[in-house]
Amino acid sequence: MKLNDLRVCNLTEPLGFTMEEPVFSWTVEEAAGRQLGASLEICAKGETVYDSGENPSADSLGWAVPLELLPRTRYDYTLRIGTADGQYAEASSSFETGKRDEPWTGSWISPAQDRNSALLRRRFFCEKREGAARLYLCGLGVYEAYLNGEKIGEEYLAPGYHAYDFHLAVQTYDVTALLREGENSLVIALGEGWFKGRLGFEGGYTNLYGDRLYAIAELWQGDTLLTATDENWEELRSPIRFANIYDGETWDARIQPEIVGPAELVAPEGCGPLQDRVGLPVVECDRFPVKELIRTPKGGTILDFGQNLTGWVRFSCALQEGASISLTAGEILQDGEFYHENYRTAVSRFTYISDGTAREVRPHFTFFGFRYMKVDCDHPVRPEDFTAVHLRSAVPQIVTLHTGSAPVNRLFQNALWGMKDNFLDVPSDCPQRDERLGWTGDAQAISATACQSLYMPAFYRKYLWDMRAEQSTLEGSVPNVVPRIKQGMIGEHGSSPWADAAVIIPWNVWSYYGSWELLRETYPGMKAWVDCQRRREEALGGEHLVKDGFHFADWLALDNPQPGPFGATDPLFIASAYYFRCAQIVAEAAEILSLPEADEYRMLAAEILRALREKYFDETSLCRIQTQTAAALALVFGLTEDPTAQGRRLRELVAENGDHLNTGFVGTPILCEALSMSGHHDAAVTLLLQEDYPSWLYSVKLGATTIWERWNSVLPDGHMNPEGMNSLNHYTYGSVAGWMISWLCGLRPDAPGYRRAVLEPRPDRRLGQARVELDTAAGRFVSAWRYDGNKLCYEFCVPFGAEAELRLPGREAKTLTPGSYHWEEEA
Ligand code: BGC
Repeated sequence: MKLNDLRVCNLTEPLGFTMEEPVFSWTVEEAAGRQLGASLEICAKGETVYDSGENPSADSLGWAVPLELLPRTRYDYTLRIGTADGQYAEASSSFETGKRDEPWTGSWISPAQDRNSALLRRRFFCEKREGAARLYLCGLGVYEAYLNGEKIGEEYLAPGYHAYDFHLAVQTYDVTALLREGENSLVIALGEGWFKGRLGFEGGYTNLYGDRLYAIAELWQGDTLLTATDENWEELRSPIRFANIYDGETWDARIQPEIVGPAELVAPEGCGPLQDRVGLPVVECDRFPVKELIRTPKGGTILDFGQNLTGWVRFSCALQEGASISLTAGEILQDGEFYHENYRTAVSRFTYISDGTAREVRPHFTFFGFRYMKVDCDHPVRPEDFTAVHLRSAVPQIVTLHTGSAPVNRLFQNALWGMKDNFLDVPSDCPQRDERLGWTGDAQAISATACQSLYMPAFYRKYLWDMRAEQSTLEGSVPNVVPRIKQGMIGEHGSSPWADAAVIIPWNVWSYYGSWELLRETYPGMKAWVDCQRRREEALGGEHLVKDGFHFADWLALDNPQPGPFGATDPLFIASAYYFRCAQIVAEAAEILSLPEADEYRMLAAEILRALREKYFDETSLCRIQTQTAAALALVFGLTEDPTAQGRRLRELVAENGDHLNTGFVGTPILCEALSMSGHHDAAVTLLLQEDYPSWLYSVKLGATTIWERWNSVLPDGHMNPEGMNSLNHYTYGSVAGWMISWLCGLRPDAPGYRRAVLEPRPDRRLGQARVELDTAAGRFVSAWRYDGNKLCYEFCVPFGAEAELRLPGREAKTLTPGSYHWEEEA
């Protein structure tokens, strides 16, 4: 028996994260049984600061401890649990606070002029190395810091992309190993990043949050402040001649870091206060060697890494002084040649100009979405010198899933990549073109699938933090993108179901991870959005429905005879359906949090439902709107009173479309679920297995390694769709992966965090087999089925402390307690 996944506030050994009180969670491996009680001892500075004693109700999904946390303090803890059958297990871990509310001794400093990139340096003396050394740092736009020439920490693009006008994230680094006795040199390299570099499409905007670069830092050893940003810092010339998020970077290694002058003491204006970080670090997660070096018919040189990914390329370079190499990102080839048009204005090029020194090279203040890199270099290119590196927020993968179909397995991988590639500090629409923004609709649509694929609570915590901040100036309304670019169309808010992200995402986080404290923290944003909708619709009089406003609705659906990106399903129906679902969720959340308003929202939800039924449903309780998306919403949101008939209608609508889908951002994430839950699972599998347009496997058959923005971003002849807006790395349609986990393999939470689960596998001969392993908040579940000749074999695993309701076709449901189960039966 072993304790795993020891976390504090959903973070592994957090260093310097914002937390009110520590909330502990864990899982138990290799044991059938249940927990009888737990005890926790927390020590700081050699003293016990908290001892819970034996606690029979300690919850492994989240055990909040009323401990007043001190700034800059490391806490070590030991958790011990006992089981019903007399076993014990014990494990230790730690967490450490950042500066919390402690005032800063360091002052904001800035390069003397508006620069694209700069180096700020301070030499300082350390008399004696003793104990732990920590650096507390925020640099704007983005920064990397070096102590004695070594990069500090393993993260990149810090402090990340957040709503700088509401808070400025401070990172805490352990620099103990880099600190020297005697002279030390601390360098902060700054680039524009999201803070001041170009952001937004159609040219975008610059200087969104400030018009110069800034930094603030304190370096402590134990209780001694060794150095802090002040007027004694100097500015050096940066070898990075140019960098921004969209366009790439030019590193001219010939530029010597000469002293330009003193840094100026000046603080950013119009920004929020400094705050210990909420967001996860962006780290290097995966590496890909060159799969093929391509010489194109026109003589170009292209590196193919075999996977569309987000990140950059590292390469070793031994060019002579003044020689340069440029890498330009691309997602696809066209007629064997490099293609870049779908990046729109994002140049996405990294150029390195050599100073004659051999070194490993990589960009600093940019990132790319790419599978291919076009190489421009006058010297021979050796593929073994190049490695593509995948960057994302540190969200580990928690699922594996395999079926008997190779294309379906590839689709599942593509869906995972769609998420991994778009979780770089914000959940973005795409990682390559001149956007890469936290579009709320896309984020909402993928959130359930994401919560079943990667460990997401801390990532979403930060996104929702920013969302609530933006909502606070919009009377609860929710912007199209978070952080909000407050200009142009991207600055708009209140579009359904983009804005519904404020309710759907925290609810998914609750449902899949069961963290009560996180629900409590995110609840005000959920409530604020429903209240905002309510005020608006009530002001227009009449029944409780959404009556106006612009809504992206079933974006990019294929069912509209009118050309353009909007689907055929009435946007006000979609908005009202989401209004109902959100009111219903807020009622449930209020009840869980023991808030008095639960009844009020329950009544509101009931009134919206009544109005929806009256306006949009006929006397037989079928949705009057004859689209796949409307029928799927009617089922999944429980709008129809006759799910059997509505399911039949949905099945017909799919059949009428030649057993193909035609849904967009609203319908696609729920279409297969609607079919499976209403008795038409076979039709859902048929949709999954279609290979011609429009279908999921259409892109797989055309060699996709990620999910595309449009069903036909690439035409059958391999050419890009001439309609434009063709990212090859948009995650929304990858939401089918969530259905594969929860319906094809049948593993769904039945209580928050999978403490109780449903196991309802749906064997289908066409797939032969399916197996999922999921590391849930409650521990590892397995659900698998496999045809073996005339036999059907099942395998299940229920983790310690959990239980599952097993539902097999034609059998009575039964409860499975923790343990492993295998059996076979006649197929
Ligand atoms: C983005 C989307 C987004 C949409 C909304 C697009 O440009 O890439 O995925 O949700 O705009 O209109």
